[in-house]
Amino acid sequence: MNEKEIPPQFREDNLSEETKTLISSLPSYKDSLGNLYNYRECWYYPNTLQGVLNFERGFEPQKTDIILASYPKSGTTWLKALTIALFERLKNRSSDDLHPLQSHNPHGIVPVLEIGLYLKTSTPDLTRFSTPRVFSTHMPFHTLQLPLKDTPCKIVYVCRNVKDVLVSLWYFKCVQLQKKVDMEPLFESLCEGVGSCGPIWEHVLSYWRGCLEDPKQVLFMRYEEMKSEPCAQVKRLAEFLGCPFTEEEEEEGSVDKILELCSLRNLSGLEINKSGKNLNNLPYSAFFRKGEVGDFKNHLTPEMENKIDMIIQEKYKGSGLKF
Ligand code: A3P
Repeated sequence: MNEKEIPPQFREDNLSEETKTLISSLPSYKDSLGNLYNYRECWYYPNTLQGVLNFERGFEPQKTDIILASYPKSGTTWLKALTIALFERLKNRSSDDLHPLQSHNPHGIVPVLEIGLYLKTSTPDLTRFSTPRVFSTHMPFHTLQLPLKDTPCKIVYVCRNVKDVLVSLWYFKCVQLQKKVDMEPLFESLCEGVGSCGPIWEHVLSYWRGCLEDPKQVLFMRYEEMKSEPCAQVKRLAEFLGCPFTEEEEEEGSVDKILELCSLRNLSGLEINKSGKNLNNLPYSAFFRKGEVGDFKNHLTPEMENKIDMIIQEKYKGSGLKF
């Protein structure tokens, strides 16, 4: 991949003088996509860090805002689709209207704050968003929380088994770099806690603690539970978002319809997701792969599994969070 093909969030061509000064004082390291800097205990590529700073400076929350948060490859696309579908069902649409999920990829509807809306500006035009505005982020809770101040915005976090996240990240990276890359360096950086958005356990724990502190503000979801009990989990999501299913809807099979619409099989078969690309030329199909729990067994050696298990056990000790 030459310099120009590297997606903008990984580059360092969009930094203010202030940010350049800041990053010169931050811990840094380099991976295959470029330099990363540690800001508020999380690793970012330089332009993404600029996006985080722009967000911190400029975001003006509305009390009805909803933010979908995740460590990459934890089920963000699915959570976005479900949230879109939950609110869309409340609109009076004629049966001829195309559902937004049929013509757009979920990431095209729910942008990422720091690598989308705020990447280049602290004052993006947000007038196109109707209420409630739905955004997403990969920032940890302590960073996201700063500009939210005391507003009652709702945050939904989706978390996933670290070993499946690693495998999913690896596949995604191969698509991004358009070649088969070694899993080993990704595994090492994940274990060292130095990957983009890492350390993953600090990310997860930040939202876990946020949820324990204020369960009305933060909903903590797990990809594995969404797979094993999808009806219960989508109802839980709807309750939290303030749009629970009515008895009538349940009798009409509305829960199942939403699950079917948002299923990996259905979404990945839609034309927009088969042949569409995002603004960085990344095919939307890259966001849909197997969607299985435990795929790590096909990719990690017992030693790799063991190392991750030991780290996670140690890091989550005493937190009440179990896998
Ligand atoms: P796998 O690579 O294990 O298949 P993210 O959306 O956070 O980028 O995560 C991507 C992972 O979620 C991929 O996992 C992808 O296949 C899975 N995924 C995407 N859409 C999904 C859906 N509708 N239902 C279940 N899993 C989905």
